[in-house]
Amino acid sequence: MSSTDADPYPFGYRDEELERLGDQHRVWQEENQAFLSRAGFKAGDTLVDLGCGPGFTTLDLAQRVGPKGRVIAVDRDGERSIPRLQRLVDAAGLRNVETRVADLGRFDLPLESVDGVYGRWVLMYLPEDKVGPLIARIARWLKPGAACALAEFCNYRHITVHPRTEHLDLIAEALMRTAAGDHGGNPEIGNVLPGLLGQVGLDVELGVVAKAIRPGSSEWRWPDVLFRQLLPTLVDTGHLTREVLSSFLAEWEVRCQDPATVFFSSPVMEVVGRRPAEEELPNKGSSLTV
Ligand SMILES: C[S@@+](CC[C@H](N)C(=O)[O-])C[C@H]1O[C@@H](n2cnc3c(N)ncnc32)[C@H](O)[C@@H]1O
Repeated sequence: MSSTDADPYPFGYRDEELERLGDQHRVWQEENQAFLSRAGFKAGDTLVDLGCGPGFTTLDLAQRVGPKGRVIAVDRDGERSIPRLQRLVDAAGLRNVETRVADLGRFDLPLESVDGVYGRWVLMYLPEDKVGPLIARIARWLKPGAACALAEFCNYRHITVHPRTEHLDLIAEALMRTAAGDHGGNPEIGNVLPGLLGQVGLDVELGVVAKAIRPGSSEWRWPDVLFRQLLPTLVDTGHLTREVLSSFLAEWEVRCQDPATVFFSSPVMEVVGRRPAEEELPNKGSSLTV
């Protein structure tokens, strides 16, 4: 599937964006590893990485499941992200990663075929009315006792910079409008997931993680690149005015020089949904077999 189809990833697939996802992954890596452990993902498992992008977590999952396990990495971007991941997989000689180009609005797997499903920062880009049906399909893919681990932003407006910057609220709104696109995505889908997982009979455990980052730290590059590189593209798409962008970047420049500055990220809702070991799932019979 090409990256120019309807409801594409709104931040695009240029090299800088794929590299930015790498910075983002490194910033959240410790929390992400703890999340994978809470979900119980382990050696020998067959796991799915939904919306894997260039595959930073896919490679962590491949290491976790080891040579006897398997990771199915799925993304709609067959032009840049999946080929990039495939090159890394080939270069590392990994035999336990299978890449697939597919739209999660339709993607399906056989009933009770996997030991776990992972997805991060992807359901926020799906039209919201496609998320519930996807969760129902995920529940059917899970073997009894297996879990899905889904991490998505919630309460986007909690992003703050201390000392306060005058224009950050407008920036957060513009980022939300961009992430939502014009296809009904919900950038705060993290808030909705606990209810959706409960409705399909999964046992739900919640965690919330956020980041407080200071200038000069190794993590600072992530918010710095986010603002300097991504925000100008929001002007091009009409989600932000040039005036607000220049005023905010002038404020940001001052904050970058101030050791008292703290950037506080939007929180991420980490939801583990575990299929009960014994019980039957509702609508079990309707899963596709592919
Ligand atoms: C912000 S990136 C996150 C990548 C990765 N999950 C991570 O945590 O670094 C979002 C990814 O979701 C993918 N995506 C968005 N909508 C999708 C859909 N409907 N089907 C498949 N992939 C989708 C995009 O192509 C993009 O690679």
